[in-house]
Amino acid sequence: MRRKVIAGNWKMNMLPNEAIRMIEELAPEVKNTQSEVILCVPFTDLFYALLTAQDTNIKIGAQNMHWEESGAYTGEISAGMLKSIGVEYVIIGHSERRQYFNETDETVNKKVKSALNANLKPIVCVGETLEERENGKAVELVTSQVRKALEGLSKEQVQSIIVAYEPIWAIGTGKTATSEDANSMIKEVRQEIRNIYGQTVADGVIIQYGGSVKSSNSKELFETSDIDGALVGGASLKAEEFAKIVNYNNE
Ligand code: PGA
Repeated sequence: MRRKVIAGNWKMNMLPNEAIRMIEELAPEVKNTQSEVILCVPFTDLFYALLTAQDTNIKIGAQNMHWEESGAYTGEISAGMLKSIGVEYVIIGHSERRQYFNETDETVNKKVKSALNANLKPIVCVGETLEERENGKAVELVTSQVRKALEGLSKEQVQSIIVAYEPIWAIGTGKTATSEDANSMIKEVRQEIRNIYGQTVADGVIIQYGGSVKSSNSKELFETSDIDGALVGGASLKAEEFAKIVNYNNE
């Protein structure tokens, strides 16, 4: 049985004092969950978030990194730098980075390899636009993004990554994919991983859904056969709402 992994993506929100308060509120609410709880926070919050989350079951992640270990890359942060302060996860290839910051399948692949080399766990984002979905190209596009992101990785490495399927038309729009549609795409992604890495790897790899996940739709999504949790944007900014998503099976 795969565990559920529920990750918040704060995007460019939350000052350190807000981050500390949110984590202090969240920690007691999620302490008994069987799921893995992750918050991916802005770089400037990382240190505060790590200190506040110490001795809790909340793990801390970053939202981006550079693939080089060090060097003349002004403004960039390496996987080793993140690891050195205790960060465990990093989001790679979020659609906003693909759309606004020229992230490509190639840079995503380089970043995934670099993260794994530094023992950081990547949360690799894939997903189609509305136009691609309407043209019947969604499966082809998403499976190709997955293939390219994972190119050159060993079976062991693929076992420690998380894939987040996030249809772009569902991000921040209030439009969630139906649980059937999300589950069906995630099955396709798992099948693609099975084709390349075999049954055991495919059965074990965590594949999340993302796109307007909130407490009112999380239970239905998480009770499907293949959705292993979520990458949550807007609804991860408030402790109470995010805790309800984590504790989806408590009522
Ligand atoms: P949303 O964002 O939950 O606000 O739609 C999801 C994401 O971008 O990861």
